[in-house]
Order: sequence, then C-alpha cells, then structure tokens
Amino acid sequence: MTNWNELESKCKSCTACRLCEGRHNVVFGVGDRQARVMFIGEGPGEQEDLQGEPFVGRAGQLLDKMLYAVDLDRKKNVYIANIVKCRPPMNRDPQDDEQDSCIGYLREQTRLIRPKIIVTLGRIAGMKIIKPDLRITREHGEWIERKGTWMMPMLHPAALLRNQSQMEGAFRDFLLLRDKIKEVCPEVYEDIG
Ligand code: URA
Ligand code: SF4
Repeated sequence: MTNWNELESKCKSCTACRLCEGRHNVVFGVGDRQARVMFIGEGPGEQEDLQGEPFVGRAGQLLDKMLYAVDLDRKKNVYIANIVKCRPPMNRDPQDDEQDSCIGYLREQTRLIRPKIIVTLGRIAGMKIIKPDLRITREHGEWIERKGTWMMPMLHPAALLRNQSQMEGAFRDFLLLRDKIKEVCPEVYEDIG
C-alpha cells in the first residue's frame, strides 16, 4: 500500500522507460484527490512538460471550458492524469512498452481515489483503459460499468481543435457525464452549492 506522497515522489524520479530522457517535468496529475470523477488523457505535450501539469496547452484550455460548462473544475471536483507521465518526443503516441512501464502509477492513483466515474480522453487512453478494440469516433459517449465504476470514452480535445465538426458530439458527451454524475454521485454538485 503506497500513499500519495510516496507515489508522487517515486513517479517524479522515475526512469523506468525511455521517456524520462527528454522530459523537463514529470506530469503526475492535478485535482482533487477525493474526486468522484477522474479524467485520463494520453500523455503530456509540450506545455504540460514545461509546466508539470496535465492539459494546460490549447487542448487543455478547451477541456477547461467544457468542464466549466457542466460545473466542473480541474482544481475542485475532478482529478486529471495521463497514461504516461513523461512527454513522448515530438508528441508521438506513447508506445505500448512505455504505457506498460507507466500504467502502474495510474492504477495506484485510481486505487487511492476510487472514482465513481472514469472518463478517457482520446483513442489511446480509451483503448488502454476501456477496451483494446475501441472505435473512438463511433463509440465515444457510450457508458460501460465495471465493478461499480462507470466509464466513458470521450474524444480528445486536441482532435476537436483539428476537427470542429465533432464539437457538438463532444459537448453532448459532457451533458451525458453531467447526467451520470447526478445519478451516481450527486454530492459532486451538492458540494458546490
Ligand atoms: N494531451 C493529453 O493527452 N494529455 C495532456 O496532459 C495534454 C494533452
Ligand atoms: Fe517512468 Fe512513466 Fe516517465 Fe516512463 S513515462 S519514465 S514509466 S514516469
């Protein structure tokens, strides 16, 4: 049983895969460690690597807006982390062996938080966490329940910036998320008053 401090310091000095070589910062995660809702992205980009926080670049600003639209806030009632904690060079996809080296940290984070709802962002995170044969364009917004935890794959905000025609569908997924929160953990909204 590790605790948060042990886990975070272990992660921040990790050299278990080649992604440690080019990093400026390990991007451990941000948010409420008691959050009922957890978001999982793929891996840090340039700004995330420089600032040490997930989703702080352009895609992150869009994510913040969509969170705000359903009364969520990265600092208050959600926790956000990535599959890999160090930036892949040139923002390439994290490779399978890199994901496998890193996933233990995410599993520990999830174990400590015990979220009621997990939302994956983008194809890579959806395939790793929800199902390996996920077809993200067709299956985003579909809930599955696993051992009492509700999971939904969402489109990646960076993909939305490239393809604005998907914006409406993505927004609909956030409304589905709001409905699910009201159903399974209404205290998230009661707490904000
Ligand atoms: N994309 C991700 O998947 N994660 C981040 O933290 C930033 C961009
Ligand atoms: Fe360690 Fe994960 Fe960074 Fe690889 S990506 S060095 S496993 S923290």
